Amino acid sequence: MNKTVIIYESKYGFTKRYAEWIAEALSCPVFERKKFCPKNLAQYDTIIYGGGIYAGGVSGIRLITENWSLLSDKQVVLFTCGLANPEDPYNISNIRKALSKVLSDDMMRQIGLFHLQGGIDYSRLSFIHKAMMSMLRKMLLKKDESALEKEDRLILKTYGQNLDFADKESIRPLVEYVL
Ligand SMILES: Cc1cc2nc3c(=O)[nH]c(=O)nc-3n(C[C@H](O)[C@H](O)[C@H](O)COP(=O)(O)O)c2cc1C
Repeated sequence: MNKTVIIYESKYGFTKRYAEWIAEALSCPVFERKKFCPKNLAQYDTIIYGGGIYAGGVSGIRLITENWSLLSDKQVVLFTCGLANPEDPYNISNIRKALSKVLSDDMMRQIGLFHLQGGIDYSRLSFIHKAMMSMLRKMLLKKDESALEKEDRLILKTYGQNLDFADKESIRPLVEYVL
């Protein structure tokens, strides 16, 4: 029988929620990256890794890059969880461009990529994350209105709020890909 595992890294719980929904749909175990020993990757046929997006990078993606020798003959799935709406092809293209800087061509070809939308609760952000978002806002406010991307406008319009776009239905394509 195909053995599947889900591993995730989540700072504010959005990726964790998706990881748990996917685990429920696939009836497979789910681990936080920090509690998962990479040598145990060898036990599984399908590895699903999920991480939140921070300044373009995927949290904990080194689990994949640093352990590729254990993964290259397996089915590997990566899901990202960000604020940007994955239904917008422009956002997907940005995420994939950033991923291609950390994943080799082989990894990009082999890994099944999925993008899910999380959220943000400004009142829960760490000091550093608050400062980063405040800097980003200041930078965006200096830009000419016509140069703003859709996601920039979303950040400006909703700055300081509590947003939650997590949607259980959106895991369906990933679950079907693995089954
Ligand atoms: C400092 C900071 C930077 C972020 N950068 C991005 C980004 O580049 N792209 C994006 O889509 N979302 C970005 N986000 C939003 C997070 O990806 C979003 O909050 C996600 O749901 C977090 O998932 P987690 O709680 O599982 O870590 C950022 C959030 C913070 C606080």
